[in-house]
Amino acid sequence: ALRGSFARKAQKPNQSSHHGLQLQASYKVAILGAAGGIGQPLALLIKMSPLVSALNLYDIANVKGVAADLSHCNTPSQVLDFTGASELGNCLKGVNVVVIPAGVPRKPGMTRDDLFNINANIVKTLVEAVADNCPDAFIHVISNPVNSTVPIAAEVLKQKGVYDPKKLFGVTTLDVVRANTFVAEKKNLKLIDVDVPVIGGHAGITILPLLSKTKPSVSFSDEEVEQLTIRIQNAGTEVVEAKAGAGSATLSMAYAAARFVESSLRALDGDGDVYECSFVQSDLTDLPFFASRVKLGRRGIEAMIPSDLQGLSEYEEKALEALKPELKASIEKGIAFAQKQP
Ligand code: NAD
Ligand code: LMR
Repeated sequence: ALRGSFARKAQKPNQSSHHGLQLQASYKVAILGAAGGIGQPLALLIKMSPLVSALNLYDIANVKGVAADLSHCNTPSQVLDFTGASELGNCLKGVNVVVIPAGVPRKPGMTRDDLFNINANIVKTLVEAVADNCPDAFIHVISNPVNSTVPIAAEVLKQKGVYDPKKLFGVTTLDVVRANTFVAEKKNLKLIDVDVPVIGGHAGITILPLLSKTKPSVSFSDEEVEQLTIRIQNAGTEVVEAKAGAGSATLSMAYAAARFVESSLRALDGDGDVYECSFVQSDLTDLPFFASRVKLGRRGIEAMIPSDLQGLSEYEEKALEALKPELKASIEKGIAFAQKQP
């Protein structure tokens, strides 16, 4: 029921946590790239979570002020700042969830793959530090191209001997958030009720919304399916163009990432009913990584949901086959990059 909502009720006067009347879970979250366009609003949303006791903010610059600012909010978590490679290890010690939005964003005319050369190295370096300092943490990779950065992270973790495929996630929540919004608008549905699974990957045609599996059940004309699918696939570019050189989605991304963090924390806390779409190691198709709905639990992914890929519409079946070559190439590019590194 908390899905998608991060606003909490104010504590009633007689519910003081000092008297142990309020359930107070305490998880430690780190954001790597915390001073950036996504990092800052994401830090704010996570600062609002009652499940978080420590919020560690890391960046190569400008993170001191962000942390000082946030630390004045009267919510439970303690905010600490860490600047530069020498402080990265300390930032990660004992952390339960690491979120990685570090890296450069697109400008108009670029594809996500155009970010590969810069972001691949950033993700590699950061995940090496995660492997050394908090190998048990859930890792949420936001940095693009997600279709390649997640395979890079997996290879790095393998090289370090600490890879747990159940705890490595490419964050595709924004695709679901967008699909839910656009479908609710088009079909005049109550926003809170709408849930559209989005599978495949996180770039162009690899983003495949399963409109036929929309909840509540709703029917679309062929034209609506085509329009909605294309809008969801191009939504990132829609924002890149609107920002006209000033970056890509940051606020909606922070919202989506905060939802995925909150879901992960609820799963860690023992909630047995947590499902999210994510780009993960997968055996649902012939591709080694694939985004789909997964059930989250204390140890990460508790179950895949193979039935989501059954009974697809003809349009979805075709789109699924069509996305595979591009997604496969992006995955292989990431793996090759990580394997050729010394
Ligand atoms: P931004 O430039 O505003 O912020 C990036 C931050 O990363 C900056 O503060 C920068 O200092 C920091 N950084 C750079 N190198 C670093 C390093 N080695 N270690 C730690 N921090 C480092 O960019 P943004 O708008 O926040 O976007 C960040 C990334 O997220 C981009 O790659 C973008 O494409 C991606 N993104 C992904 C999704 C998604 O759905 N998965 C959505 C939006 C954006
Ligand atoms: C998005 O989907 O908004 C992000 O992947 C950023 C981008 O480059 O579009």
